[in-house]
Amino acid sequence: MSMLTLPGLIDPHVHLRDPGQTEKEDFFTGTAAALAGGFTTVLDMPNNKVPVTTAERLEEKIKSAREKVVCDVGFYFGSMGENLAEFAKISSKVMGLKLYLNHTTGDFLINHKPTLLRTFVEFTDKKPILFHAENETFDTVLDILREHPRPIHLCHLSTSYELKRVIEAKKKGLPVTCGVTPHHLFLTKEDETSLGTLGMMKPPLQSLRDLDFLWKHLDVIDVIESDHAPHLLSEKQSDTPFFGVPGLETTLPLLLTAVNDKLFNRAQGKLTIDDIIRLCHTNPARIFHIQVDPETKTEVDLDEEWTVENKNLLTKCKWSPFDGWKMRGRVKKVFLRGKKVFEDGNLLAKPGSGKIVTSQT
Ligand code: NCD
Ligand code: ZN
Repeated sequence: MSMLTLPGLIDPHVHLRDPGQTEKEDFFTGTAAALAGGFTTVLDMPNNKVPVTTAERLEEKIKSAREKVVCDVGFYFGSMGENLAEFAKISSKVMGLKLYLNHTTGDFLINHKPTLLRTFVEFTDKKPILFHAENETFDTVLDILREHPRPIHLCHLSTSYELKRVIEAKKKGLPVTCGVTPHHLFLTKEDETSLGTLGMMKPPLQSLRDLDFLWKHLDVIDVIESDHAPHLLSEKQSDTPFFGVPGLETTLPLLLTAVNDKLFNRAQGKLTIDDIIRLCHTNPARIFHIQVDPETKTEVDLDEEWTVENKNLLTKCKWSPFDGWKMRGRVKKVFLRGKKVFEDGNLLAKPGSGKIVTSQT
C-alpha cells in the first residue's frame, strides 16, 4: 500500500445531461461518478436537450443542480450567436462560454463566420470562451484570436496538427489554453476494431503518431478533460449511435496507471504525480478561476491493482470504453471541505451537499 493525497481534482469538461436526458445521467449520478473517479469539481457543458442559451434556462439548471449534486459543479453558457443580449445577465453565474463549430450531440452549432466573430467579441468577460473546433474550424478560431486576443480554451485536442498550432500560438504569446481527453491519450483508431461504436466520439480516435505527439508535448497541454459524454449502451449499440464516451471514473486511474508505467507503454513513462496535479488541479483552477479549498482532497492508493468493470461504475450509463482494463492506482477516499464523501467504492454524501461554483474573476 502506498497512500498519496492529491488536492481536489477539477474536470472542466463534462456532460451531466440534466435536464433533458436524465435517462443517460443526472446531476446526482454524474457527480457521484465524479467522486468515485477522485474529482471534486466538474464543469458542465450547455448542450442539453434544450440548449442552455438563455438566462432563464441557466437559472433553472442551477436550481435543480443545487438539490442533487454531491460534488462541486460549475456551468458554461452556450450560444449559437442569437442570444448576445443574455451575456450580461449570466456573466456572474458561469465559468465561461462554450461554442460548437462542428456538429455534435445536440443541435448546437455556429457555422457562419460573421456570427462567430460577433459572438466572440460580444462575450467581453475575462472568463474563457471554449471551443469545440475540429479540422477547418480549428484554424478559424486561431485566426480570430490573432485579431481579437482574449482568453480562449481549445477543448479536446487530439491531433499533432492541432497541438503544433497551439505551440505556435503560445510562442506568439496568444492567450490560448488547451485540453486533451484521456481517451485520446490511451486509445487510437486501431482500438475501434475491438470497441466498435463504443469507440465513437467527437473528435474521433486518432493515429498512434498523434497519440505519441500528445505525450511528447505533455508540457504544452494545460488540462486533462474527460469530456464525460454518457449515452445509454442501447443507444451506442443501435444503428444510429450517438457520439461520446463516459470518462469520469477512469481518468484518474488511467493517469495513475500511466505514472506506474503499466499501460502498454503508451505514456512512454512520461507522466508524474506532479503532472497530474498540474493538469487536473492547478491549471484548471487558474484557467477557470476556481477557488480551491485546502480540505478538499482525494486519497489514492498508488499500488492497488484492480480491473475496471462496467457493473461497478456509478455513472448511470454503466459502461466504459476501458471496461476490463487492469489499473494500478485506485481512489480510496474523497473529502469535500473536510467532510468524507466517498470511501472504498461507497458514496457517503447526500444529494445537494455539493456546491455550485462560480468563476472568481
Ligand atoms: C458530446 C456529447 O455527447 O454531448 N459528444 C462527444 O462525442 N464528445 C458532445 C461534445 O462534446 O462534442
Ligand atoms: Zn464535450
